[in-house]
Amino acid sequence: MTSLQTLMSDACAEAFGALGFDAAYGKVNPSNRPDLCEYQCNGAMAAAKAAHKNPLEIAEAVAEKLQANPLFDKAEAVRPGFINLNVSPLAAADHLNRLAAAEDLGVEKSGEGKTVVVDYGGANVAKPLHVGHLRSAIIGESIKRLYAFMGYEAIGDVHLGDWGLQMGLVIEAVKDAQPELPYFDPQFQGEYPAEAPFTIGDLEEIYPAASARAKTDEAFSERAHQATLKLQQGDPGYGALFRHVLNVSKADLKKNYDALQVHFELWKGESDVQPLIADMLKDFEAQGILEESEGARVIQVARPEDTKEVPPCLVQKSDGAYLYATTDLATIVEREAMYHPSEIFYITDKRQSMHFEQVFRAARIAGIVPEETVLSHLGYGTMNGKDGKPFKTRDGGVLRLEYLLKEVRDAVYERMAETDLPEDEKQRTAELIGLAALKYGDLSNQAVKDYIFDLERFSSFEGNTGPYILYTAVRIRSILRKCRESGMTAGPLQPAANAGEKDLQLQLTRASQAIEEAFREKAPHKLCQYIYDLSNLFSGFYRDNHILKEEDVARRSGWIGLLELTEKALVVFCDLLGFDIPERM
Ligand code: ARG
Repeated sequence: MTSLQTLMSDACAEAFGALGFDAAYGKVNPSNRPDLCEYQCNGAMAAAKAAHKNPLEIAEAVAEKLQANPLFDKAEAVRPGFINLNVSPLAAADHLNRLAAAEDLGVEKSGEGKTVVVDYGGANVAKPLHVGHLRSAIIGESIKRLYAFMGYEAIGDVHLGDWGLQMGLVIEAVKDAQPELPYFDPQFQGEYPAEAPFTIGDLEEIYPAASARAKTDEAFSERAHQATLKLQQGDPGYGALFRHVLNVSKADLKKNYDALQVHFELWKGESDVQPLIADMLKDFEAQGILEESEGARVIQVARPEDTKEVPPCLVQKSDGAYLYATTDLATIVEREAMYHPSEIFYITDKRQSMHFEQVFRAARIAGIVPEETVLSHLGYGTMNGKDGKPFKTRDGGVLRLEYLLKEVRDAVYERMAETDLPEDEKQRTAELIGLAALKYGDLSNQAVKDYIFDLERFSSFEGNTGPYILYTAVRIRSILRKCRESGMTAGPLQPAANAGEKDLQLQLTRASQAIEEAFREKAPHKLCQYIYDLSNLFSGFYRDNHILKEEDVARRSGWIGLLELTEKALVVFCDLLGFDIPERM
């Protein structure tokens, strides 16, 4: 559905065109002086410059043409050449009535027929989750939902880190503790046990202890390296043990991601593409794009126009080992074969930006994806504690997602003191609100920036927070419930009767633009900004207009319709951000 702003731009463009000017001067934007007008067009200034004419005269001529257009209530030229515009209340109401009947807030589905792989989550198996993984999960989930909303077939892949030294460390530690297990017996011929020899609780102790030990115990560290190598070369016992680590870890990770309302279509990991690497490197070799560099093999990816140094992409170390980039290249090969996606989108800490730059360039040089395939990386900043250092839980240890979620839930629960919800519903609701607090707290910041995890602020029911947004939606639902109970129904939206109503209506006409813009820029913070403004405008409207007491039935029904549309927009946006709205709170 064409947005109201586009319709206005089209009308303006036509007016410029009719006067002999380039239609491109007709671009209309929301006013940056809302006290003077709702929208503005500044094209007359540029047109005047190009044609050596007086900008005010051009603005006046354009404004005069627009005055005849039923889209506008006001079209006025002001010094030095601005065109100030107000939308006609009737046009705004008509537009919203069409929008209310349209699907998905009238968003143009630019992704239909296309597939995207969104690579996010990225937890490392057997290692504890860290704060960075939390951000990847939260931001990635929102971006994936945006893609899906735009009509893409969106495939989220958790892409676990499951192929590194941590596996060797765990294997050696298990061997020291339980040397009698068949995994370590090279003569063993039977079937390996189906049951893992450890629980997730054990694993959580095994890895940190082994990792610490490797730092001081050189022999142990060397054994872990050898074990990793042996695993990667296909040792059956180590392979069986590895699968236990993987399964136990995955089950726990799934639980954690579920609690975060983060869901993946694919549970692949680095280990899955190891069988593809040898052939891929043979292909690179045949193409003549591999270079020897101190015994290692690299692809040169620097370009003459580079302003900073882009080191060669290292695909094989001198000892034969593969690297992070090798795995990522092989994963691109696999994704191309499986889905032929039009885009692959990665979400990681911004410190990995150079890695992805190298991998993307190498992928282009090697031609492993068609030229038109978009490869993008979104690098996010750090979630810091109030001390400005990377966030740690209260006990100072690494992040335990369960504890973090509990902390947020408790903070929200405290603030729900006066609610009369039954205890079990109160608990569940606190959980929903807590998730919104955490996710909104993260997503309302521009992703590349660092931000401070401020539990006080995030869990507040006032201000630019998740709980405030939910509170607004719940309030609307409760009003709509009351209307229903009094037999009042929704009707077509009416031309706005006052400024508060007009502002709310205009904001709603911009819903699809906000989603399209957030998608284009991969910027969930723009979704947050939109619903924060929407919530504030709703509050203003509701303060000044007494729906239940209104006697003019058409007007009252129109207001109920307006509330329904506002609620609908909030539901869509919250879902795109990755959290749900409770029925009551
Ligand atoms: N496991 C990696 C880490 O912890 C993140 C993986 C990101 N995805 C990728 N395809 N490299 O840093």
